[in-house]
Amino acid sequence: METLLMLERITIKSNSGPYDVEFAPNLLNNFVASEEGVTHYLVDSNVARMYTNQLASVLSDPYTLLIEATEDNKSIDSIIPVIEQLVNNNFKRDHLLLAIGGGIVQDITCFIASTLLRGVEWRFVPTTLLAQADSCIGSKSSINLGNVKNILGTFLPPKKIWICHEFLNTLERKDIQSGIGEILKVHAIAGPEAFDLLKQDFSKLISDRTTLLHYIKEALLIKRKYIEVDEYDKSSRNIFNYGHSFGHAIESATNFRVPHGVAVTIGMDMANHIAVMRGHLPAEHRDRMHDVLSQNYFDFKNIPINPDSMMRALLKDKKNTATELMLIFPVGEKASMQRVSVAPEEDFYSQCVQFLQGIGA
Ligand SMILES: NC(=O)c1ccc[n+]([C@@H]2O[C@H](COP(=O)([O-])OP(=O)(O)OC[C@H]3O[C@@H](n4cnc5c(N)ncnc54)[C@H](O)[C@@H]3O)[C@@H](O)[C@H]2O)c1
Repeated sequence: METLLMLERITIKSNSGPYDVEFAPNLLNNFVASEEGVTHYLVDSNVARMYTNQLASVLSDPYTLLIEATEDNKSIDSIIPVIEQLVNNNFKRDHLLLAIGGGIVQDITCFIASTLLRGVEWRFVPTTLLAQADSCIGSKSSINLGNVKNILGTFLPPKKIWICHEFLNTLERKDIQSGIGEILKVHAIAGPEAFDLLKQDFSKLISDRTTLLHYIKEALLIKRKYIEVDEYDKSSRNIFNYGHSFGHAIESATNFRVPHGVAVTIGMDMANHIAVMRGHLPAEHRDRMHDVLSQNYFDFKNIPINPDSMMRALLKDKKNTATELMLIFPVGEKASMQRVSVAPEEDFYSQCVQFLQGIGA
């Protein structure tokens, strides 16, 4: 654990050039506005409120725009006024965008950076666990259309990422659980050994920052292996959708009352249960993972998930073909992640209902 804690920088190879994730524990002690040319800041409004003093130089900048981090604002309609403001502020090709916030501000900034003036540079200070441990690397932007989640998007990594774990101190418990959901997913993809090591430390993730920081770094290193090979998600990176097709459908069916990473946690448990019911996975693997997964979504078990609404959302998932659902299941003795096509027929529907009834949703 100590070796990883000393790691100060991770470099990611991307089709648009390498970029660095820098671990900057003291970032908030001396947060100076960027000195590299003209920078336009997009800042999560809650972060601006909680870190008014530390971010004073950014918040007093005339080019700073505040964004309320809601799924409604992560939509094409809500992004247009933000673009209008940037254009009114005379945004030019050699200007930079700098996002300070979680996955929502990241998705909005990345989408704007990839489309405004046909592409401009952006940088990122992730302030949530999910964004620090997972979404900050990988180049994707994802934008909602109505309640169809993440149906629009682009690929453009930030040129630089600074991770300061001090931001995590003000997160609500649900947002820590959401980030832990993605950390669990990445470790499940790495294999049973990696998942079981994380499982041993699971109870410390919320209470012990050093352990959490270790797993943030570990999760980024695991993800790097996949995004460097398949940045545009054409083949091997697909397995990162483990838990996501179900997760997005759960978010839509609950009107986003379940945070993203928690919905993904339910989605992983659901994928495991259905994989066993369909004969893809030995039951021991489902059981080995179920206790930590269910602990991570325990607080959300009482939010009802209507199976019809979930199924409607699942059918709209962007990874499907015209007739089949494309789902990621752990398969076989090694629980290795594989893409499996499933006909959305009666038996699949009843397997989903059986799982939802089993967890009391
Ligand atoms: N592009 C990608 O690769 C990718 C990957 C995973 C998830 N996502 C998307 O990310 C979104 C979820 O992002 P998220 O979990 O980071 O949360 P978020 O951006 O929705 O933020 C969650 C809440 O935490 C608040 N917040 C942010 N930083 C804070 C801090 N330091 N202290 C206190 N409150 C803070 C926000 O204002 C918000 O209320 C989803 O829309 C999901 O689809 C994108």
